[in-house]
Amino acid sequence: MSVFHRREFLNRSAILSAAALAGSNLNIAQAAEAATTKKGAANDRLRVAVVGVRGRGMAHINGYLGKNNCEIVAICDCDEAVIGNAMKKITGVQKEAPKYHKDIRQLLDDKDIDIVSIATPNHWHALAAAWAMRAGKDVYCEKPLTHNVHEGRLLVEATKKYGKILQTGTQSRSNPGMREAVQYLHDGKAGKVELAYGTCYKPRPSIGKVDGPQQPPATMDYNLWCGPAPVIQPHRKTKNGTVHYDWHWIWEYGNGDFGNQGVHEADKARWGLGQTGMPSTAVSVGGRLGYIDDGETANTQLCLYTYPDGRHVIFEVRGLKTEPYMTSKVGNIWFGTDGYVVCPSYAGGFAFDRDGKKVAEFKGGGDQYHFDNFVQAVRSRKPETLNCNAEEGHLSAAMCHLANISYRLGDKTTLDKADSVYAGCAPAVEALDRMRSHLKDNGVDVSKDPGMVGALLTLDPKTEKITKAGHADLAKANAMLFREYRKGFDITEAV
Ligand SMILES: NC(=O)c1ccc[n+]([C@@H]2O[C@H](COP(=O)([O-])OP(=O)(O)OC[C@H]3O[C@@H](n4cnc5c(N)ncnc54)[C@H](O)[C@@H]3O)[C@@H](O)[C@H]2O)c1
Repeated sequence: MSVFHRREFLNRSAILSAAALAGSNLNIAQAAEAATTKKGAANDRLRVAVVGVRGRGMAHINGYLGKNNCEIVAICDCDEAVIGNAMKKITGVQKEAPKYHKDIRQLLDDKDIDIVSIATPNHWHALAAAWAMRAGKDVYCEKPLTHNVHEGRLLVEATKKYGKILQTGTQSRSNPGMREAVQYLHDGKAGKVELAYGTCYKPRPSIGKVDGPQQPPATMDYNLWCGPAPVIQPHRKTKNGTVHYDWHWIWEYGNGDFGNQGVHEADKARWGLGQTGMPSTAVSVGGRLGYIDDGETANTQLCLYTYPDGRHVIFEVRGLKTEPYMTSKVGNIWFGTDGYVVCPSYAGGFAFDRDGKKVAEFKGGGDQYHFDNFVQAVRSRKPETLNCNAEEGHLSAAMCHLANISYRLGDKTTLDKADSVYAGCAPAVEALDRMRSHLKDNGVDVSKDPGMVGALLTLDPKTEKITKAGHADLAKANAMLFREYRKGFDITEAV
């Protein structure tokens, strides 16, 4: 066995015990031997580190493992309890254990790493991506690319400053079926498309309530998990424990289901509509309705965007039980003068003429297309070949953030008082009626149970600043385009 340093030894010990815990059949001695012996890697092998391996990070591992001459040389997670499955999977295929880092900063010092693939919670995305690019790595970063609007512009600048490739993890962008559907729209085959609709109808049950602050897992470096956000003791306890996954419903870390599932459909809505900038207005109405729990974000949300050319996106989140809208539960509909296109999945859908007759079908997809597209761009050094670069990731994430700012700055009142918000956009008025019926079906009394009637935000698409915030405080609205970063985790220092 070749000699290795103490830090390396500790590192490998943690890895191997985690792999053993995960029930690996791995011959640990052999794996350790292999892990410390550098393989004669081909010159064009790309060395990948995956950051955040509890859930989505496993799909990242699948995206590189044994594919496109990539090698996963490191994994990073600030909770050592979750790394077992990743270790087992990687070691099983590559026959040697990757390095394990608890702290992303150690990983970034490793000159051997070419790609950092980020699947942490949302509040870490932009900072981790900026740090990785500053350290000379190319980045695949999960959606939503950012936790707030301004982070997106900073990341776009960082890709230019550091000359790095960044793919945003909205993988529908690479699916052949979805690409064909969008091409159909862009070719004018549905006529002039004035309105895109996105539906995020995904049941999200209550996360329950706890009496007071909870302990983070003892296996976790909670300071690292919080990163740029303030260190606040978790106030939730679910099947995911006190910290993992349900951060989606807490503003400091997540962006609600709009910034979770919904950002995929917001991205496709904007893409199909051919919008390449910020909207000129955004407004959102909704609530966390039907239950009272420790979550903060809306489980019901209807959002309207008007773009500078007058065209609209309507986006709807429904976390309570619901029927689909025009066959779309998690999907999109684009309405054109000559017909409409419905894509009820990531992998495509159908085109219809004005009489509702099906005239085309689009199908085909899978996560791998998006990872392949990224790796090809990394090798070719041609960012223009990326299917979802930082600019696209930024603009789509911003749709969620703007809706959430409108919502949070709105009036707490019943949703039967929301009609005036959508005046001038008949499809949005009609969508509001449908949303209220949906709530009634779920036992919500829309004339008694308060929701939020959001502030109408007006934007300058060039400066990406809010110029009017309805009757809400403009300075407060603009402050919400960014966040306070904790010392040592400030993104502005990295860009
Ligand atoms: N593209 C998709 O289809 C898709 C699907 C699911 C999730 N996602 C995205 O993937 C991300 C992760 O989602 P998840 O469901 O796996 O969440 P999760 O909470 O289950 O897992 C996140 C992991 O990141 C780790 N982590 C947190 N901070 C870290 C840090 N500073 N360094 C290293 N590790 C850190 C956590 O310990 C945890 O293990 C989210 O942003 C989510 O929106 C994308």
